[in-house]
Amino acid sequence: MKYAFLGAGKMATAIIRGMLRAKLCVPSDIVAACPEPELLGELGESTGVGCVASNADAAAFASVVLLCVKPCDVAAALAQAGAGLDGKLLVSIAAGLPISKLSELAPTSRVIRAMPNTPATVGRAATAYACAESATSADRAAAEAVFSGIGTVYPVAENLLNAVTGLSGSGPAYICLVIEALSDGGVHCGLPRKLAHDLAVQTVLGTAELVAASNAHPALLRDMVTSPAGTTIAGLRKLEAGSVRSALIEAVHAAAERARELSAQ
Ligand SMILES: NC(=O)c1ccc[n+]([C@@H]2O[C@H](COP(=O)([O-])OP(=O)(O)OC[C@H]3O[C@@H](n4cnc5c(N)ncnc54)[C@H](OP(=O)(O)O)[C@@H]3O)[C@@H](O)[C@H]2O)c1
Repeated sequence: MKYAFLGAGKMATAIIRGMLRAKLCVPSDIVAACPEPELLGELGESTGVGCVASNADAAAFASVVLLCVKPCDVAAALAQAGAGLDGKLLVSIAAGLPISKLSELAPTSRVIRAMPNTPATVGRAATAYACAESATSADRAAAEAVFSGIGTVYPVAENLLNAVTGLSGSGPAYICLVIEALSDGGVHCGLPRKLAHDLAVQTVLGTAELVAASNAHPALLRDMVTSPAGTTIAGLRKLEAGSVRSALIEAVHAAAERARELSAQ
């Protein structure tokens, strides 16, 4: 199968690297298009994929076209791809652009809309996707194969993609904030900055792996390390007083609402 990337920025690069790492295809099966020659040169040199300036040439080359430009550049990129999109599977990762709008801009393509996240760069993305009615089971399998290369993949109904954006799309920013705050807490208690940072990162990483590996609810795992009158309950009491749980719920809700507003524009 041949793949074209419209846009060769951070997400496109992460997906391309993931596809090659997963041996989904070889570099000569991929062409990336972008107006910035410097970016393309770098991508081409480091991955061996084909690089072109024209979206039309890229789209014509492939049977699967991945739309990886910013939402404000989507209309222009699709117009530039033109007839190259005819009969192709178009996989968009542009935040907030509904399948109906994408199908309007690319009426001759079968559309899949996906929401990956930035851990794609290290092969640990969480991606959810929804399909237009015109998408076939082979299209679904092709999209799943692409996103499996950069992490885990979840099919969802399109009306859930704003919630996905609020949770896993924006979530890496929330977790970075948590890591930064834990690290600050360590420094406040006398740890050197680098050690505090490393301990915070490893704690988040290790706990996430523990939760993923266990069938238990996170509350049960939390209980296991919370001894009566101990240190952890003292810390948890402060987190509850600071409404951290509620703040995270509200953060996901606010981001999902913002995604819904952007989708409606
Ligand atoms: N980053 C995230 O966390 C994340 C998560 C999920 C989904 N997304 C979505 O992924 C998409 C890409 O995000 P990103 O972070 O990878 O952005 P990015 O690094 O800015 O990459 C976008 C690339 O598209 C290029 N471009 C602009 N107009 C173009 C056109 N007409 N044809 C072809 N290429 C064009 C840009 O080139 P110039 O720099 O020259 O303009 C840039 O290299 C966005 O729609 C975003 O909503 C991002």
